[in-house]
Amino acid sequence: MNQPYTLIQDYITQFVAREPDLLQALRKETDVLPGSHMIAGVLQGRLLSIIAQMVKPQNILEIGTYTGYSALCLLEGLQPKGNLYTIDKDPKSTHIAKQYFQKSGMQEHIHLYIDDAISVLQKIKNPLDLVFIDADKKNIAIYYDLVFDQVTQGGVILVDNVLWKGQVLAKQKDVDIYTKCIQQFTKKVHADIRVSPLILPIRDGLMIILKK
Ligand SMILES: C[S@@+](CC[C@H](N)C(=O)[O-])C[C@H]1O[C@@H](n2cnc3c(N)ncnc32)[C@H](O)[C@@H]1O
Repeated sequence: MNQPYTLIQDYITQFVAREPDLLQALRKETDVLPGSHMIAGVLQGRLLSIIAQMVKPQNILEIGTYTGYSALCLLEGLQPKGNLYTIDKDPKSTHIAKQYFQKSGMQEHIHLYIDDAISVLQKIKNPLDLVFIDADKKNIAIYYDLVFDQVTQGGVILVDNVLWKGQVLAKQKDVDIYTKCIQQFTKKVHADIRVSPLILPIRDGLMIILKK
């Protein structure tokens, strides 16, 4: 990431809403783990929280739990009798997620599936008001297609890392498979007349897709 971009992100991070203590503790515990760069972090976390509070979802689906940080941010907007379904294939990072879900006192509203996302998605049949896709980039289009019919009218799908550290600006023939999948996915959503998409250049790029 270039320096002005990083400085702008640091600048705006100073002015976001205060990170809850539980999330701060989780972020610090995650800091020393392999893959700690994957965590949503303060800026994106607060954005996820605000979006969830605006959408007021009854059911939330997250693909890519890691240590549970983004799930807990999304949970801030969950309606009182709502459910959050979150999927990750990694038992190690989700072991930490489980501990923090318990500490949140909301564990009866959180359904954690430790398995490959595609197989779990076949089992979740509920209508979904808010979906956060934040797992392997090669499968984002598959995840989008698998959940789309369950997303309610006016529901929102969020997709992380759609700027892929700026590599999406590269010419199609020069790029690696991940960049190619993200570029193709972005074009697919842009051409999809059922939705209104927008990309926010926050962190690694967050796509907000509103189902009409
Ligand atoms: C970027 S991290 C998620 C970060 C998390 N949303 C947060 O902000 O704290 C991506 C996660 O997706 C998981 N993942 C990757 N491929 C997956 C798959 N095919 N099925 C389920 N989980 C997968 C990884 O194990 C990893 O924990």
